[in-house]
Amino acid sequence: MAARGEFSSKFGFILAASGSAVGLGNIWGFPTQAASNGGAAFLLVYLVLAFCLAYPALMAELIIGRHAKSNAVNALRLISTNRFSYHMGTLTGFVGIITASLILSFYALVAGWMVCYFLAPIAALAGMQDVADWLTEFGLYRNVTFILIFMVLTVAIISGGVKDGIEKWSTRLMPAMLALLFLLIAYVLTLDGAMEGVKAYLLPDFSRAVDVNLIVGAMGQAFFSLSLGVGTMLIYGSYISQKENLSYLGRMVTFVDIGIAVMAGMLILPAMYVAQHNGVAIFDAAGQLISEDTLIFTVLPALFDTMGITGIFISAAFFILMSIAALTSSISMLEVPVAYAVENHQIDRKRAAQFIGLLIALISVAIAFNFEILFGLTIRVTTQMSQPLLGLMLCIFAGWIWHRNNMLQEIKAGYPDVEQSLFWKIWPSYVRYVCPVAILTVFGQVVFA
Ligand code: PHE
Repeated sequence: MAARGEFSSKFGFILAASGSAVGLGNIWGFPTQAASNGGAAFLLVYLVLAFCLAYPALMAELIIGRHAKSNAVNALRLISTNRFSYHMGTLTGFVGIITASLILSFYALVAGWMVCYFLAPIAALAGMQDVADWLTEFGLYRNVTFILIFMVLTVAIISGGVKDGIEKWSTRLMPAMLALLFLLIAYVLTLDGAMEGVKAYLLPDFSRAVDVNLIVGAMGQAFFSLSLGVGTMLIYGSYISQKENLSYLGRMVTFVDIGIAVMAGMLILPAMYVAQHNGVAIFDAAGQLISEDTLIFTVLPALFDTMGITGIFISAAFFILMSIAALTSSISMLEVPVAYAVENHQIDRKRAAQFIGLLIALISVAIAFNFEILFGLTIRVTTQMSQPLLGLMLCIFAGWIWHRNNMLQEIKAGYPDVEQSLFWKIWPSYVRYVCPVAILTVFGQVVFA
């Protein structure tokens, strides 16, 4: 069998894994949720949940993945201790593969819109106004075209493998994305009205912090944002060398992910208030701040329109930022089924990437055809139901099924003094008790609310 891929350095892993984590969830999901849920109150709850629950769950995936050096199906089978846990492991692995593929199928559609909105101002600048209009009007033909374009990019990168695909492109795209984000923030903060947005974002409305919906929303957001449950982080963990210190790597990825979500809030919220200052409506009829797709595809473009020629550049920069963030995430989703096909069925990586990519593109097209029914449903089932449940299963595997000594042995690899660390003292009982109970509690809210 061909040698397994491995990230060439700490840096390569951190960029690839934070590339997976940082996506539409951070730059779109987080700021808009924060905006409609009490600003900094949401931020605070999110920070607590991300560090106290999502980070330990991320560590469970990285540790299991590196130990098994294989995809989630094989990894969970490997650490199982009897027939029952073996079958549970198989099931969890497969549900993860299906979930990752379904997430990619709606993600590709949304990412395609980002690419359209990136190209539209360029087309307008080149005098092709009809093309620009086509790109920004919600049409089936356009949606399908850009699903295919985005999936071709994703497949091309995954075909290259771990070092020459995932790592190479993450190390190119992530710095570009960061630079764009900081430039945009710096620019928007100089505009009139921006400070009001900063205030709305950073002044907490604490009456909201105890709101159950807010906590449920923040938890889901944290799990989605760290790409948890579906086996993405597990497979990335399986490409980390035995020499590396996992708890450090996991911490770095968590910091980058949370940091970028928080920074994205410093872009989106001020931009909304600048839009208001320029005469664009940012509150809906019920007095709520406009969010979700209307925010991204109506309010922000309306803002860019008020800026004249500068607006064209800012708009292109903003949507290419979104497109890049989406691409470094989508490759990590496709890697989940591809790694399984390569490792368990000895299919050539390129072939596997193309075939599975095509299959997911077809599902995505089916969603585009039945948008009203399937789009919201796919998002809800995958991110609110499947992801937390899979996260729960992974914590149960790490905390209850896997032999404790083997697990501790794995943590020690690459970090000989780990026994003195806080991580060693707290984490094992954390994934055993706190994470499962917390996930179940939040999940109960989603199901029974
Ligand atoms: N973390 C990505 C985001 O924030 C989404 C994602 C989910 C990526 C699951 C991989 C797996 O947009």
